[in-house]
Amino acid sequence: MSAAFSSPLPSKVINSFTPALRRLQGIASTFSSPTQHVMAGNLAVKTPLLRLRDGNNVPMLAFGTGTAWFKEPEDHDKFDKDLVLMAKDALEAGFRHLDCAEMYDNEAEVGKAIKESGIPREELFVTTKVADGIKDVPKAIDESLEKLQLDYVDLYLVHEPWNLHTPEDYQNVWRGMEEVKASGKAKSIGVSNFVRKDLEMILKGSPKELSAVNQLEYHPYIQRENDGVPYIPWMQEQGIQVEAFKGLTPLARCPEGPLVGPLERMAKAHNVSGAAVMLRWFLQQNIVAITTTRKKERLQEYAEAPTFELTKDEMDEIFTEGKKLFKRFYFPQRYDPDDRS
Ligand SMILES: NC(=O)c1ccc[n+]([C@@H]2O[C@H](COP(=O)([O-])OP(=O)(O)OC[C@H]3O[C@@H](n4cnc5c(N)ncnc54)[C@H](OP(=O)(O)O)[C@@H]3O)[C@@H](O)[C@H]2O)c1
Repeated sequence: MSAAFSSPLPSKVINSFTPALRRLQGIASTFSSPTQHVMAGNLAVKTPLLRLRDGNNVPMLAFGTGTAWFKEPEDHDKFDKDLVLMAKDALEAGFRHLDCAEMYDNEAEVGKAIKESGIPREELFVTTKVADGIKDVPKAIDESLEKLQLDYVDLYLVHEPWNLHTPEDYQNVWRGMEEVKASGKAKSIGVSNFVRKDLEMILKGSPKELSAVNQLEYHPYIQRENDGVPYIPWMQEQGIQVEAFKGLTPLARCPEGPLVGPLERMAKAHNVSGAAVMLRWFLQQNIVAITTTRKKERLQEYAEAPTFELTKDEMDEIFTEGKKLFKRFYFPQRYDPDDRS
């Protein structure tokens, strides 16, 4: 995948949006005029790429196969044809980054969709994650690859830190991840749902490879800042790229929240969907936005995200209004109620 977008600068700098900086970042050339609606398929070309520390590039909009699509244990033996159709629709709409996980129990469906799409493997970016398999990571990737019908994934993530307790637990898992990368079965490796102390546990083991990515819940209602210490810029300064999930929370989960009005106004001003405004807010912070849907028509709304630009005032308003409400949706019981890290 060729580089259209790289991120050597912290998000603070990118948010200043001078044309020269945008050119430096490779952003300007990838975006069209604010009012132009992207056509199906164009998204594949227009989605900016974010460069990882290992030189690989991630398409910054991803279609996820969890949340709306993961299989309940009682459905384990059912093959989800609807997901095959939706993943193919997402690929047809131009999504080239698919976010999967062993835990979602639907890698086989994604594999079928990829195969039937006919899109060359090198044009796709496929992520999957290991959770149950952390005791034997090299075995876990083999199982995922078999289901996905692939020889390699582009990004392999440790899904969550919750079964890791001692420094040895962290370091053993990470050694397994390094082995997977060395074998070529994952082009890049990273983590998900790690707070700073989890990342530091890996660092203490003097790893050969550093985590390229942390995928976590991040949106205006959880800005990952505890006692004035922001986590997102810290990761970016360490060279760990951020991928955000639950990003559409202000629209999908908090209909009474402070951002409903502002997002509607901004969507109208740019002639795009509210979802596109929300997703755009991540792209302009150099953050990969992972979303999903069960409705085909939403794909076109999402596809508008790379086609316009929020002003600095609009970006700031989303940060400021977002701070008026705190919501954590992904396993809140694992954190203290006031913990915003
Ligand atoms: N690493 C992890 O632990 C982890 C955790 C959670 C998620 N993820 C990944 O992230 C992906 C995205 O999941 P997410 O829940 O985070 O996605 P999200 O983007 O926050 O929400 C997607 C949902 O928003 C709804 N939506 C979109 N536009 C809307 C609007 N204008 N008004 C109301 N609702 C709207 C859609 O509903 P419809 O379906 O009705 O269109 C869709 O189901 C997952 O599939 C998974 O791949 C990873």
